[in-house]
Amino acid sequence: MDKRIQARPFLKWAGGKTQLLAELTARLPQQIKESGVIKTYVEPFVGGGAFFFHLHNEYNIENAYLIDINRELMVGYQVVKQTPEALITQLGQLETDFLALVGEERSRFYYRIRELYNRQMEQFDYQSFNQEWIVRASFLIFLNKTCYNGLFRQNQKGEFNVPCGCYKNPTICDADNIRAVSRALQRVSLICADFLSSSPYIDRHTFVYFDPPYRPLTRTASFTSYSKDSFTDADQIRLAEYFRELNARGALLLLSNSDPKVSNPDDNFFDELYQGFNIERVLAKRNINSDGSGRGEITELIIRNY
Ligand SMILES: C[S@@+](CC[C@H](N)C(=O)[O-])C[C@H]1O[C@@H](n2cnc3c(N)ncnc32)[C@H](O)[C@@H]1O
Repeated sequence: MDKRIQARPFLKWAGGKTQLLAELTARLPQQIKESGVIKTYVEPFVGGGAFFFHLHNEYNIENAYLIDINRELMVGYQVVKQTPEALITQLGQLETDFLALVGEERSRFYYRIRELYNRQMEQFDYQSFNQEWIVRASFLIFLNKTCYNGLFRQNQKGEFNVPCGCYKNPTICDADNIRAVSRALQRVSLICADFLSSSPYIDRHTFVYFDPPYRPLTRTASFTSYSKDSFTDADQIRLAEYFRELNARGALLLLSNSDPKVSNPDDNFFDELYQGFNIERVLAKRNINSDGSGRGEITELIIRNY
């Protein structure tokens, strides 16, 4: 694979793993550290893909499957993979038009694009790639780079509803990174589906990294609302059962999640679900929820079957 420019996430995504990369990398399977080779890599909750891009830059990944249930995110990945130059042209135009404006005009431009993006959804063909995908991906990246806090958030109808960030000089079209990401994705299968769809690709030669939506630390916390499909405790249980099934298959499994003990020392939810596996608590910086209660250093869970 071409490694001239190191690929980085092309979107800022809730739960991005940049903060935890060193902790995760230190816990890679020994044989991967020694050989530098990952035969098959599967990431069933890929989000922004920080860990995948990091691994791509440092290791030789022979096969990879990146999965996420968010269809807007996967439209973005497909377009970056298949038509990076057309995307760069489209996004570059949005950038030029936006940066030429000042003050209120910028904010009006932002809300116009947001409106177009949400209306486009009504008749969008998510099944087969066409020219509209390029426009939609350019809107997605534009909104992600100019919205408040740079996150992707949808309401129950699936509409993007983040207000304008009104930053002075946002980088909207990072052409070099789009090309680098596109190269990194050339031999990667991108799948828009529930995490269980990863099953056919996993055997004893597979390394799987799970980064599911965090379990909210408090009842009011809204960490899991990055998409209209929320991830409940029943889903966490479904995932833990899947983890046990893949363990029996002999795959190497790494998983991260929030630590319920941060808010309630008696909460053993994950300790019980993953009993018998290697459960560690590591320090992480968190600043994702708007009321500030999740900021600062707290522990997160890293769970492995090796
Ligand atoms: C914590 S984020 C992943 C963060 C990512 N690892 C990163 O570094 O940016 C969790 C992701 O899981 C996805 N998701 C939620 N429910 C899912 C499901 N049932 N199956 C697959 N993906 C799901 C969300 O769309 C979201 O992108």
